[in-house]
Amino acid sequence: MNPSEHDAVRAVDLRIDVAHAARVYDYMLGGKTNFAADRAAGDKIIAEWPGSRAAATAARAVMHRMVRRVAAVHGIRQFLDIGTGIPTAPNLHEIAQGVDPASRIVYVDNDPIVLAHARALLAGTPEGRTAYIDGDLREPGKILAEPVLRQTLDLNRPVALTLINLVHFLSDEAALPLVAELVDALPSGSYLALTAGTADSSPARAEIASRRYREAGIENHLRTRAQVERFFAGLELDDPGVMLINHWHPDPDDGPIPPDDEVMAYAGLARKP
Ligand SMILES: C[S@@+](CC[C@H](N)C(=O)[O-])C[C@H]1O[C@@H](n2cnc3c(N)ncnc32)[C@H](O)[C@@H]1O
Repeated sequence: MNPSEHDAVRAVDLRIDVAHAARVYDYMLGGKTNFAADRAAGDKIIAEWPGSRAAATAARAVMHRMVRRVAAVHGIRQFLDIGTGIPTAPNLHEIAQGVDPASRIVYVDNDPIVLAHARALLAGTPEGRTAYIDGDLREPGKILAEPVLRQTLDLNRPVALTLINLVHFLSDEAALPLVAELVDALPSGSYLALTAGTADSSPARAEIASRRYREAGIENHLRTRAQVERFFAGLELDDPGVMLINHWHPDPDDGPIPPDDEVMAYAGLARKP
């Protein structure tokens, strides 16, 4: 961290005594923005499941592929990314603006440490725009009412709503209507890109991660494929449908494709008719 980032970090209550989802994930990805409680939670998962770091990397890589596809193949130039996480290059705007430098991105996260690092998320191209909202998926109305959202995105033009590695922090009853409310607010031609944790492919490993998160005080919910498909009700699922992340348009540039029992998330991309 540089000195001004230290100031930003000091200005918010980071609760470094307890594990936080964004920081545990950062630790699993090999990042440096985490504290002892986060590393302890991560180490317990790694000790029981040595492949968990590779699984986290695979969970991040599918975000890159989804954003590249929605931008390059489907022509989307506006993104609303909720549950952004601690900046880890390449961030979403770097992928989207790599396809078209004029792409516009609004990031949203509810973790103060992500807020403290938001500056790194705002360093986009001069042609495009990036903005950050300190907001919560559980309050979609507030996110949609933020002036910066409409200053950055034109809601009369298609938007990709990206919810990557996020909904497992909420139950189905909680998450489904929230996601539907956000999709409702977007125009026809918009996309929903979503990944969600599952125990379908490796029940024992998924249970390890889930239990360790719960023990660290982080709520999490794993879903079957049918449960994940419910997020896309009324939308047109893009090829290849809801798939384990290692089968969702795998790219050799992401490194070796992990076997099914080393991944624990589904991915789906769908168009709003
Ligand atoms: C596992 S990280 C995923 C980061 C990024 N989307 C990725 O896939 O690399 C989950 C992020 O969601 C955020 N988060 C959890 N619950 C949230 C909520 N209710 N509203 C907004 N953000 C939330 C956490 O703070 C964390 O940064």
